[in-house]
Amino acid sequence: MVNEPWWKQAVIYQIYPRSFYDSNGDGIGDLKGITEKLDYLQQLGIQALWLSPVCCSPQDDNGYDISDYQDIDPLFGSLDDMDELIRQASMRGIRIIMDLVLNHTSDEHPWFLEAKKSRNNPYHDFYVWREGTEGTPPNDLKASFGGSAWEWVPQCGQYYLHQFSVKQPDLNWENPQVRKEIYKMIRWWTERGIGGFRLDVIDLVAKEPDRGVMAEGRHLHEYLKEMSREVFQGRDLITVGEAWSATPERAFLYSNPDQSELSMVFQFEHIVLDQQPGGEKWDLAPLPFVTFKKTLAKWQTQLYGKGWNSLFFSNHDLPRSVSRFGNDGEYREKSAKMLALCLHGMQGTPYVYQGEELGMTNVRYEISEYRDIELLNMYRERKEAGCPEKEIMESVYAKGRDNARTPMQWNDGVNAGFTSGMPWIRVNPNYTKINAEQEIADENSVFHFYRKLIGLRKQERVLIDGRFELLLPEHDSLFAYTRENEDCVLLVICNFASAAVSYDLPGNWEDGEVLLSNGKQKFSQGILEPYDAYMVIRRKEDVQ
Ligand code: GLC
Ligand code: CA
Repeated sequence: MVNEPWWKQAVIYQIYPRSFYDSNGDGIGDLKGITEKLDYLQQLGIQALWLSPVCCSPQDDNGYDISDYQDIDPLFGSLDDMDELIRQASMRGIRIIMDLVLNHTSDEHPWFLEAKKSRNNPYHDFYVWREGTEGTPPNDLKASFGGSAWEWVPQCGQYYLHQFSVKQPDLNWENPQVRKEIYKMIRWWTERGIGGFRLDVIDLVAKEPDRGVMAEGRHLHEYLKEMSREVFQGRDLITVGEAWSATPERAFLYSNPDQSELSMVFQFEHIVLDQQPGGEKWDLAPLPFVTFKKTLAKWQTQLYGKGWNSLFFSNHDLPRSVSRFGNDGEYREKSAKMLALCLHGMQGTPYVYQGEELGMTNVRYEISEYRDIELLNMYRERKEAGCPEKEIMESVYAKGRDNARTPMQWNDGVNAGFTSGMPWIRVNPNYTKINAEQEIADENSVFHFYRKLIGLRKQERVLIDGRFELLLPEHDSLFAYTRENEDCVLLVICNFASAAVSYDLPGNWEDGEVLLSNGKQKFSQGILEPYDAYMVIRRKEDVQ
């Protein structure tokens, strides 16, 4: 595996800093808190940590609204704390990946404070402005967090574009000066020892609002190639592009092995299937399981040898994977393990989102207990539109981003051991049953299953380079596939249903070696119990 870049062999752990671990009792997780938990992360076996944004921010969108790219928000600590985290992590072989929000800044960023003063201000052109008259925006583009994407500024007599909240004005990437400033800032971070970057909504930066085009504007890949030349190439960095709009046909551009853009793409085609066609994510629909499998399989085969994908079922913007794709009741542990095995068996770099390794679940709170701007705006808009309360809350329970943002459950003590103060968001009440301390003590826990799975990546090269083939494509509850290279064939077979199912699989796998399973030690072909998952290997020298 010597020729492969480290990030193809790595497992990345995503931290949502405000909910990870609070070191000083103010109720908000912080950098010192992460440093204190590095031994836990090392025990899990991960190679890198992606931190959601910790730069200075008014926290309108929990840090995705940055007011100073080159300093740490006092909520999370200081630059010294960041240096210390980088140092301590690196001693454990763990790299730190920063979240770079380059599509927009906060409206409190000095660039924007200048830009909005007048049309003649040197920073004016750092943002996207259009003519219009008060009350009549340039067009009807909508912001992702509700309402118009245009906001009127009287002193300029113009509107500015914001694809997200009104406090997140879009940067104007057409202005070479903007790109230059961004590259300068990225270089500054690489010199501090940052191991890589996750590029927030990078597919949106080349927006063309006059044509109604937000994602994948004409200049997008030109900008990415320029950024790569200017700051990424020649440095040992991992770069991950968040791209909701990416299709396998175009994703190889982002993640071309020639490294002309980024290391890998982070795309969502498998994530957006359980919603009504043409609706928003809040318009719930059952998961079309066969389409779900085929979507994941399509990315596996079409990107093979041409690009590199990220593997994930949840993150800070999505519900908990066990609640969404598994079963968070009777089969919580079993289905959490099944999902892990199913995901980590595919080609790409797996991401573990904090708490996923414990099988943490969604929550059902009163509306007053939620904090997320997206969720609260949606609640207000739908209330105003006369939507029944019950229906709105069902959407919140199923898809609200706060499901993934409740504090990490460390132990069964006060506030799940997350803080000695008042947590910024309520702790999931199931922490007395689901927490890290208990799982570390139990060899059969979800935590140890993840640990073993992560360990297997270091042993079995086929997990990295094996060619993917989907089996039983039309089966409505089994997800089965093989990975094959010159040395071996690996079978992954998972039951996504809460009932036992039978199936007919070509070939004999019963004498294969079970590398990992959440069921029995031995694999017997033909029937799978609820949420059973097996990873079985057949070495080619055994076969011949
Ligand atoms: C990304 C982030 C999300 C944020 C949005 C705007 O999708 O993951 O949390 O709200 O971009 O920056
Ligand atoms: Ca704190």
